[in-house]
Amino acid sequence: MDKKNIGVGLIGLGVVAGQVAAVLTDKADELAEKVGCPLVLRKIKVLPQDLSRPQARQMPTTLFTTDDEEFFREPGIDIVVEAIGGVSPALDYHKRAIESGKHVVTSNKELIAKHGTELLALARQHGVGLQFEASVGGGIPLIAPFKHDLVANNISGIFAIINGTTNYILTMMAREGMDFASALKQAQELGYAEANPENDVEGIDANYKLAILASLAFQTQVHPQDIYREGISRLTSHDFRYARELGFAIKLLAIAKQSDDSIEARVHPVFIPADSFLAKVDGVYNCVQVEGDLVGKVLFMGEGAGASATSSAVVADIVSSARKIALGIGSISTWKAVAGKSIKPMDEIETQYYVRLNAADQTGVLAQIATVFGKNNISISSAIQPESDSKTQTAEIVIMTHPAREKAMQKALGELEKLEVVNEISNFIRVEEIEGG
Ligand code: HSE
Repeated sequence: MDKKNIGVGLIGLGVVAGQVAAVLTDKADELAEKVGCPLVLRKIKVLPQDLSRPQARQMPTTLFTTDDEEFFREPGIDIVVEAIGGVSPALDYHKRAIESGKHVVTSNKELIAKHGTELLALARQHGVGLQFEASVGGGIPLIAPFKHDLVANNISGIFAIINGTTNYILTMMAREGMDFASALKQAQELGYAEANPENDVEGIDANYKLAILASLAFQTQVHPQDIYREGISRLTSHDFRYARELGFAIKLLAIAKQSDDSIEARVHPVFIPADSFLAKVDGVYNCVQVEGDLVGKVLFMGEGAGASATSSAVVADIVSSARKIALGIGSISTWKAVAGKSIKPMDEIETQYYVRLNAADQTGVLAQIATVFGKNNISISSAIQPESDSKTQTAEIVIMTHPAREKAMQKALGELEKLEVVNEISNFIRVEEIEGG
């Protein structure tokens, strides 16, 4: 290698970028040893307001610029690290960096989920790498295993807890009997949930992450829009109580499955057996269970967010890009479209269901409800009436089904709603008979 050092340019100075800058400085000697030459942080592109952040005050002012032109003119930047998130202006920064022959490292899941295919093609065309280990699961190695260690496998399934905020909220609801609003408030007070929690609680963040994992695992492009998505805000303490009594836990899972000719991808709350490994992953932890034809089941678990864990993944990508530069290797294809793989419409998926409804507490009600399920070809595995209110003469009824088509279930729910004896469908949750103890 004839390079004396490898230059890094950082875009953004949020908590992750600030930590990356600190690691590059604090571990400079160890990283130089691992790369074979020093990594030098040459410029940080910031917004004017970033300059008053504590992480900015610890660095020389000459490192910073608020000007895009100055950043991209800076000589000696070999690797651009984008850590601002979102599509705009990040997409332009990526294109500009790649087109000027720089390797790119990012933690930006939305950008990679929506534009990964296009950016990887551009990177290939310009002979540079685009790496995004930190975009899913914070510091947990996930992207690299899919690209390298699991490459000989046909991946049949991914079952993932990939949003720490919602896993924390669900843990509090399950353990402490909290309602959704109080658990969310607690998560916000602890800094686990943002003031506007929509991205996390509505499953948008998990959707982006699943789009990335499924695209890599199935060697195709799974776009966020292809993924069915439901959040956790309609879960109540009743659902957690019945889940526990029936031997299940409730988790927000990102699920992707591959069969011979189609792919299934969805993010929604699910009942999973209480003795499965994923059911025991609590708090802000993330865990991804992958099933491959050769490797069997493997689990990746750890801290899915936070500056320190995320910087572990970003710096790993910087080091791996630097090694490629040192060896003169450009891009390696990570995903590409494979013909003939369609995304299964949600209507066609088949799963078991938990249905909780409120109905009149009188003779023959259960029979009417069972008839609707029967007419739609849905087999009931159990029905319980755990609670009745003698004053209003209503009862809460919980029904578990055998595997049924989503389309049939939606039709049955519509018909149940119209029954005079049914006051409301309080909730319905899909059941995933996930294995792994
Ligand atoms: N908001 C995300 C989570 C962390 O709760 O897991 C960043 O991906």
